[in-house]
Amino acid sequence: MKKEREQWGSRWGFILAAMGSAVGLGNIWRFSYAMGAGGGSTFLIIYLLSVLIIGFPVMLIEFAIGRRAQTDAIDAFKKLAPKSFWVVAGGMGVLAAFIILSFYGVIGGWSLKYIFTYITGGVSGDTETYFNGFVGSTIEPIGWQFLFMGITIAIVMLGVQKGIEASSKWMMPILSILLILLAIYSLTLGGASEAMTFMFHPDWSAFSDPSVYFAAVGQAFFTLSLGMGIMLTYGSYLSPKEKLPSSAVYIIILDTLFAVIAGLVVFPALFAFDIDPTQGPGLVFVVLPTIFQNISGLGAIVGVAFFILLALAALSSAISLLEVTVSYLIRRLGVSRKFATIGIGFVIFLVGVPSSLSNGAVTIKVFGDPFLDFMDKFSGNLLLPLGGLIITLYGTWSWKSNELLEYADLQDAFYAPALLFFAKFVAPIAILIILIFGMLNW
Ligand code: TRP
Repeated sequence: MKKEREQWGSRWGFILAAMGSAVGLGNIWRFSYAMGAGGGSTFLIIYLLSVLIIGFPVMLIEFAIGRRAQTDAIDAFKKLAPKSFWVVAGGMGVLAAFIILSFYGVIGGWSLKYIFTYITGGVSGDTETYFNGFVGSTIEPIGWQFLFMGITIAIVMLGVQKGIEASSKWMMPILSILLILLAIYSLTLGGASEAMTFMFHPDWSAFSDPSVYFAAVGQAFFTLSLGMGIMLTYGSYLSPKEKLPSSAVYIIILDTLFAVIAGLVVFPALFAFDIDPTQGPGLVFVVLPTIFQNISGLGAIVGVAFFILLALAALSSAISLLEVTVSYLIRRLGVSRKFATIGIGFVIFLVGVPSSLSNGAVTIKVFGDPFLDFMDKFSGNLLLPLGGLIITLYGTWSWKSNELLEYADLQDAFYAPALLFFAKFVAPIAILIILIFGMLNW
């Protein structure tokens, strides 16, 4: 007899779990370095438009496919569209999860290192020198990466995700309050007006640069956990009584607010202390300690709190990434959960080692970028949008419009015709053009 599938206890349980996956290093670490490198306001505008025009329809379609298939991404396409081209979307999702987690573990490790740094007093002296000294050493960052992956593996293996999900309930509100307080503080440091110009004053000439579109669309997919079927899987667990569009709206608004507020923390301080916005993945690890140094007396405590929350947010995303590859292996090879989790978790750790080394210890460049930046761009800016494109085309062209409207709870929505138009034409064409120009430009 078939076991009845579990469902989320409540709609808020579902929204929290989806937010746990969405809110992570992407909102703070990746958003600020991508926005710094992408010229600020131009990047921000294109990113916000991508969230609205591409992110919202893609998220709804992922939810709707999950709700119809009642299973995860790999099985969903096999079940709904057996032996067809669409099945590749599932396989690409597993590949994307594998690659993302390889470098996600490295940055998660950096967050753990900084918790330890702040427990033992914080960063004294130049924060950039401190950061470069740490990431430029060979063994130490790999050790922290190993620890972060070890914790992720232990949680997925023991199946204690529930604990992490429960902790999101208090963790996310605290993280958001801390971020807002830090933003207010950062705005008083003397760089506010420069930061406002950088973040919100559009530089129209920069809109002709295809690499900004490539980065901004990729960021939208990465931060919303879209394009690899994770949201599809979450959608399969939501009770049919609950409405999908409003759930998607909550997740998108909260995720976007986290990123914009993180920007308001990073950029005013960056201009106040003359830090280079285009320096890449180390940006928040240089800017935040500079802020904490200025909070006299309380800096170390705020630092500990901040990096603990960042590491927890990273952990809840890392768990959902590892779960994708683990459940694939269990099904594909019939191995035990324990074996699959330790085995693939260790392989992902090993694949992440060159990313860790590429920040100064060893020169490993691919297409002119350090290995970590390359893996990040390849998975976030290329694989996820491509996966999103296939998922969207499946939901809009292989399904009938009224099927999509029904499964996405859009029958009564006044904006349904506009949404269908965007999902069917605008989003796929935009993704395609941006991917082509982004690749040519790379
Ligand atoms: N959204 C996560 C973040 O912002 C990272 C991420 C991307 C992710 N794709 C995912 C997490 C898929 C879980 C599943 O940090």
